[in-house]
Amino acid sequence: MSNNRQSSSPIPGLALDELFPQEEHFIHHQSNIHGVDHVARVICHSIDLVKEHGPAEYLAPAWAAAFLHDLARRTDGVCNRHGQWAVDDCWDLHVERFRRAGVGPEWDERIKAAVINHCDRDNLEKSDPAWRLAAFLKDADALDRYRLNESPDPRMLRFEHADEVYFRAEKLEYETYGCADGMEVWAARQVLDTDAEVSPEFAHGEELPAVPHIDPSHQLDLDIGPPGGGKESHR
Ligand SMILES: [Fe+2]
Ligand SMILES: [Fe+2]
Repeated sequence: MSNNRQSSSPIPGLALDELFPQEEHFIHHQSNIHGVDHVARVICHSIDLVKEHGPAEYLAPAWAAAFLHDLARRTDGVCNRHGQWAVDDCWDLHVERFRRAGVGPEWDERIKAAVINHCDRDNLEKSDPAWRLAAFLKDADALDRYRLNESPDPRMLRFEHADEVYFRAEKLEYETYGCADGMEVWAARQVLDTDAEVSPEFAHGEELPAVPHIDPSHQLDLDIGPPGGGKESHR
């Protein structure tokens, strides 16, 4: 994996290295499961999902929600409150960054609702103004469940994703588990993009080995639940 590829920020107004939280931004708890590399991958997935499903105006708000969502965890175990803690304890620390990314105040309540909702069973109706943003965050978070030696169940997700989305998520996790810098995750994602351009068949041409990162007896968070409000197709 190359980590020195040049790339422009997908969010105008924000430098590439500002897209990802650093270890010190996780204010209560340093984690190998919900830390820098996990949040960086969820950011990458969020960007990809907005590009896949649109509309483009969701790009910066979806990034902001992903950036924030796990910063205030106090444990790696089951917890349905760390979204609220992130809003309460971390919003003010990063809102200026969000503004520079073009996230206007009209998005604030939707971002907060998505972050609060991400660790609880779906409680937003599809008619809720925050539903789409919450759905992007829930699906992006779920796509990183490969780090728990689990495959995300498409029936549990809120958007209908192409097979390549799952394969790319698995491969990105395999390449970047344990990275201490989000930029390394971004670089790996760029490599996947390049590989895809070189070989359109890559998504079905390689079988990844199992990644024995996690003690399966460890009780892990179950942030995703059955989708509320129905599934949305991109077709
Ligand atoms: Fe979470
Ligand atoms: Fe997460």
